[in-house]
Amino acid sequence: MAKGIRSIRGFSDILPEQTPLWQFVESNIQTTLEAYGYREIRLPIVEKTELFSRSIGEVTDIVEKEMYTFEDRNGDSLTLRPEGTAGCVRCGIQNGLFHGGQPRVWYAGPMFRHERPQKGRYRQFHQIGAEVYGESGPGVDAEMILMTARLLRRLGLEDVRLELNTLGTGEARAAHRAALVEYLQAHEDRLDDDARRRLHSNPLRILDTKNPDMQALVEQAPRLMDYLDEDSRSHFQAVCRVLDQAGVAYRVNPRLVRGLDYYSRTVFEWITDRLGAQGTVLAGGRYDALVEQIGGKPTPAIGFALGLERLVSLLEESGIRGPQSGPHAFVVSADSLRALPLVEGLRDRLPGLRLQMQTEGGSFRSQFKRADRSGAALALVLGEEELAEGRFGVKDLRGDAEQQRLDPEALSDYLARRWPELAATEVTD
Ligand code: HAM
Repeated sequence: MAKGIRSIRGFSDILPEQTPLWQFVESNIQTTLEAYGYREIRLPIVEKTELFSRSIGEVTDIVEKEMYTFEDRNGDSLTLRPEGTAGCVRCGIQNGLFHGGQPRVWYAGPMFRHERPQKGRYRQFHQIGAEVYGESGPGVDAEMILMTARLLRRLGLEDVRLELNTLGTGEARAAHRAALVEYLQAHEDRLDDDARRRLHSNPLRILDTKNPDMQALVEQAPRLMDYLDEDSRSHFQAVCRVLDQAGVAYRVNPRLVRGLDYYSRTVFEWITDRLGAQGTVLAGGRYDALVEQIGGKPTPAIGFALGLERLVSLLEESGIRGPQSGPHAFVVSADSLRALPLVEGLRDRLPGLRLQMQTEGGSFRSQFKRADRSGAALALVLGEEELAEGRFGVKDLRGDAEQQRLDPEALSDYLARRWPELAATEVTD
């Protein structure tokens, strides 16, 4: 393995042979989001630490132990964003985006969490997220879930399942929480250290425990479902009814609580069994109280984010590589310095043409080899004679059509006939 400075653990390079699949996934998702009226928003990667601790929650794994937090030169505490929702809410309040309209936005980019790296879990990972503000009814919940179903279907992902839950309103959760704490306190001897620590700060997260010794205790704990207020219950039922009618299968999972504190009412996750322990590919829910909590006017909201690494690796495992975009043609020349002006002239005529050339020359034999490996359909040959005449030799690399010699104008007509999409792009500058 090569020596030298290496990347940070949990931070990955995405190499040129991988980017076509990333681009395929990203553009596919973007098309779906825009078809539902979402517009792109670009947000800073660094925000004040307080924004995340106040919105995600002081006693969450993310805020307690996973944030990349540092002091900048002014002594301000800043954090690399661990997710996109908090920044989106901050931006919406600051720029008055929530007044009047009902904005729908999407964003894409890297997020940072200091988790233990493993398959599907990285310290820098990429999300595409979408958020809707100002719509309080169950319609947008159902529409968003249907959109995520479409989005995964369009990517060709079949074996992902949908889980749903409702977390009710703040009051319902408070009543449930009181009952839960009382129940857990009555069984304090059966709690592990983690659960004891969370008993008063975040008892709901105890329900998420992976400790096998606590499963029985957790199974019998008071269930939030039984404390739900009537509005939340009928909101959730309405969402489920639309999904039933639309033929989207789901499972109601009363233990789905999510790892961020800002949720209320509907929460959902799309999960696969093909990625081992890190099976959630897309997750989200309603967060009706967050905008006000961060200092804005009360504004209902819902959103989700998907993990691009997880989606891409699912597609990779299915053998999908994404469209490869090799060159249309490859220039083979006797003297690249004299060839360059002719080649530039061709690029002027056909800006969409993907034309690769080997500036370091080398023998014709090695240049042809490289042309062949590039996947190009044609070699454009500029030997001594062609350079002197200002014409290109045209050799079909994939068929056995006779080699011809064409001046730049005839060559651009020929190329545009062969790839009609190039014809419309002619510009002169
Ligand atoms: P989240 O569940 O924390 O939600 O993350 C969403 C998705 O990001 C996960 O389902 C997973 O696919 C991916 N992900 C999370 N952590 C990692 C990691 N360490 N490595 C690789 N992928 C990861 C949120 O972030 C919320 N902001 C979603 C949301 C938007 N809720 C409302 N609006």
